[in-house]
Amino acid sequence: MPVFIVMLGAPGAGKGTQAKLLAEKSGLTHISSGDLFRDNIKNETELGKLAKSYIDKGELVPDDLTIQMVKERLSRPDCAKGAILDGFPRTTAQAEALDATLSQMGHKIDLVPLIGVPESVLMARLSGRWTCKQCGAIYHTLFSPPKQAGICDLDGSELYQRPDDTPETVSNRIKVYSEQTAPLIEYYTQRGVLAEINGNQEIEQVTQELIDKLPEVN
Ligand code: AP5
Ligand code: MG
Repeated sequence: MPVFIVMLGAPGAGKGTQAKLLAEKSGLTHISSGDLFRDNIKNETELGKLAKSYIDKGELVPDDLTIQMVKERLSRPDCAKGAILDGFPRTTAQAEALDATLSQMGHKIDLVPLIGVPESVLMARLSGRWTCKQCGAIYHTLFSPPKQAGICDLDGSELYQRPDDTPETVSNRIKVYSEQTAPLIEYYTQRGVLAEINGNQEIEQVTQELIDKLPEVN
């Protein structure tokens, strides 16, 4: 049976970091809605131009555009074994659309890890984040530094800082998370799939907690 996982947590909680590690270990496909939007921005698509106006302010991209983009991604062959969704859903409307899409495919959400990190930690994490331009590997100047500053350990490409990681935009992203995404905690608790994970410990320890909760992938 395919396995579908939704990573839930505030900006900077470690969704992308953990989703990447879990995807490598489980063979599931990692789908980050933020990365999909950033690819569209880089390629200067119509969707990218529209999305940029919201992302730059730390606001959510409208549901219809976001749902369509993720639905298309889920329909590709590399999702046959399942997927780890990171950054989607982020509103109740998106969660309902995801349930409907998966149910049409004969699938369901198996697990929703909620990566909990105190709000006071989030800003420090995001202001020190550097990401690989090529492979998307995530680093932190203090907590998870690359071997050579500004260069990806994995493929030697240049690292960059996300333009939406400025203090003002991060503050708004955290506010938007509390208002629009936090209600999903109740949504998935009611469906019996939520698992609380302590995100305020070493990256490897967080991964281990997640692996302990992961359903078997085959
Ligand atoms: P998105 O790219 O999803 O950003 P986000 O949710 O704000 O989350 P982040 O990527 O900032 O944090 P993360 O939890 O992935 O943390 P990370 O692992 O990098 O979305 C960006 C924008 O796109 C949104 O604002 C919105 O505009 C739009 N968008 C995306 N999806 C959308 C949707 N569904 N609907 C509408 N709009 C949407 O870690 C952060 C840092 O901490 C790194 O430096 C890392 O090295 C470090 N770190 C990680 N874990 C640890 C640890 N355990 N200890 C110490 N440091 C750690
Ligand atoms: Mg992320």
